Amino acid sequence: MKPLAIAENIYDVGIIDWTTRDFHGYVTPRGVTYNSYLIVDEKICLIDAVKAPFTDEYIKNISKVVDPADIDYVIVNHVEPDHSGALPKLAELAPNAVFFITPQGKNEAIQHYGDIFNFVTVKEGDVLSLGKRELQFLPLPMLHWPDSMSTYLKEDQILFSNDAFGQHYCTSNRFDDQIDESILFFEAQKYFANILSPYAKLVEKALQKIEGLPLKMIAPSHGAIWRSHIEKIVSQYSKWGVGVKNDTLIIAYETMWGGTENVARSILTGAASAGIPVKLFRLNSTDNSHIVAELLEAGGVLFGSPTLNYGMMPAMGGLLTYLKGLKPGKKLAAAFGTYGWSGGAQKDMEEFLAKAGFDLQPGFNCKWKPQSGETGEAEKFGYEFAMKIKENK
Ligand code: FEO
Repeated sequence: MKPLAIAENIYDVGIIDWTTRDFHGYVTPRGVTYNSYLIVDEKICLIDAVKAPFTDEYIKNISKVVDPADIDYVIVNHVEPDHSGALPKLAELAPNAVFFITPQGKNEAIQHYGDIFNFVTVKEGDVLSLGKRELQFLPLPMLHWPDSMSTYLKEDQILFSNDAFGQHYCTSNRFDDQIDESILFFEAQKYFANILSPYAKLVEKALQKIEGLPLKMIAPSHGAIWRSHIEKIVSQYSKWGVGVKNDTLIIAYETMWGGTENVARSILTGAASAGIPVKLFRLNSTDNSHIVAELLEAGGVLFGSPTLNYGMMPAMGGLLTYLKGLKPGKKLAAAFGTYGWSGGAQKDMEEFLAKAGFDLQPGFNCKWKPQSGETGEAEKFGYEFAMKIKENK
């Protein structure tokens, strides 16, 4: 069977990778797709490629529509290997193809694969005629690599957005209105939080570039194609870009002999009594990518760890190192935990929270495990932290 035509003579020739669960540390319980689109006009044009191990399957998909040797143009919106791994094979099979790319992308591609492509570099506003159709290039630098770009197909009103608006979500149905909306938006939120969050301030600028473009579809390079919820996903990107805060409290903790877990649950009881939603995650049973997604819209977060060898537990170190890079915004945050004969975890955690850009609040600590009076103090701490979230909303 021919690949799905998402519009007349525009085919979805990418790969649905149902089994990948780890995308450079981003846990992907719903798999990953590497979308690529083939436009058959007077010129034959491919938008983006796929990860190297899927090259054979990808070439088969293309071959069901055209002979790969007949490809005239390849648009390289982004050089990260999940979209560029198959490019060397394409260069071999389509020796006359011209590869359109940003100057930064050209440098990156040569570093990755050698100087093997017939490149033409493009900049903002450049256009490429395919015959009856015209492509317009819209670079999106640092969303999320220096080379990142999107490409707009004027006649069909499709934005090929590459990573932007993507989700790691495999489904056999390829359009947003054919799949579960709440899962789709959570996966889009998770993608934004884990991939685009460090560059959130640039999102508004990117949205200004597409503002005013008539859009029938946003076709990203991961996950479902947007055609029915375009306004909603663009509006979500705008909110996530400037930083959104609801009144949810996230508690993320690790524990050794149950003392810190005991504190975490007491804090939860106190915070919930203030009437806000509270979500509790133990690090050994929740991946960091999920916690980061939950954190994107939360009003505040508490991190808990006992002291181990004068510092925080390694799992907490992993989460906080990740957050230090992601810079999730000036949300209220504090550290809590337990210790035996010396502390250290709280100081460790607070140093990371400050570096990550959180609005650091006083924390809570007790020896070994909360005694009867201390349980009440932990509840009070949770209640007071929840009230700060409500006031800060
Ligand atoms: Fe999907 Fe930045 O690669």
